[in-house]
Amino acid sequence: MRKPIIAGNWKMNKTAAEAKALIEELKPLVAKSKPEVVVCVPYTDLWAVKEAIEGSKIHLGAENVAWADSGAFTGEISADMLKEIGVEYVIIGHSERRQYFGETDESVNARLKQALKKELKPIVCVGETLTEREKNRTKRVLKKQVLEGFKDIAAEDFANIVIAYEPVWAIGTGKTATAEDANKTIGYIRSLVRKTWGAEVAKALRIQYGGSMKPANAKELMAERNIDGGLIGGAALKANDFAAIVNYKNA
Ligand code: PGA
Repeated sequence: MRKPIIAGNWKMNKTAAEAKALIEELKPLVAKSKPEVVVCVPYTDLWAVKEAIEGSKIHLGAENVAWADSGAFTGEISADMLKEIGVEYVIIGHSERRQYFGETDESVNARLKQALKKELKPIVCVGETLTEREKNRTKRVLKKQVLEGFKDIAAEDFANIVIAYEPVWAIGTGKTATAEDANKTIGYIRSLVRKTWGAEVAKALRIQYGGSMKPANAKELMAERNIDGGLIGGAALKANDFAAIVNYKNA
């Protein structure tokens, strides 16, 4: 019922020329893919990637968006700037933004509202750190991130929202949550959404897993009932690996 969505998060990697080359390599490999395929790329790559994906099934995403329409916000990029290029998706609240750039649930909420207002599809990231996990605070942390991050968001807006559950300790570390564990935690996130926004919304909402997802573990993760896709960092930088995740059913 929920169409799986596999999104690459390139982070601060690939110049525009390198981006173009990666997309050219990727295109034939995902031409027959069943899941929705998205690449979220650095701002400076957006035009080149937009041109390169023309005529393919790959969707374009950015890695952040400003909460304001325009104005004195040095270094920020607005939703209109992204829309003009043809950007469809935008990652919001990635743990690296929270960790290194001071993003909070409040700023996530503001960016999310702006993305929805401008008809960009947000991929909102939530997840606990290792310390929080070890102190048994995972549920408490996720509850806060969901309730505050999605504060005042209307039920109907969830049709355009994707959540990415990314345990911070699994990002770029090679450590993955077990499929069972990830499924359980994502089930908890779904139950939070159900309580506030209703059963229909929770049932239709796509929730991805992210954190060292790779060809070797994609099939197992994707087999879980609650996992509707992946947000892929490191493995999205290699066409073969990313395509193998997208085509996990053939593995
Ligand atoms: P990773 O990153 O796949 O390299 O662990 C995932 C992410 O940060 O979105």
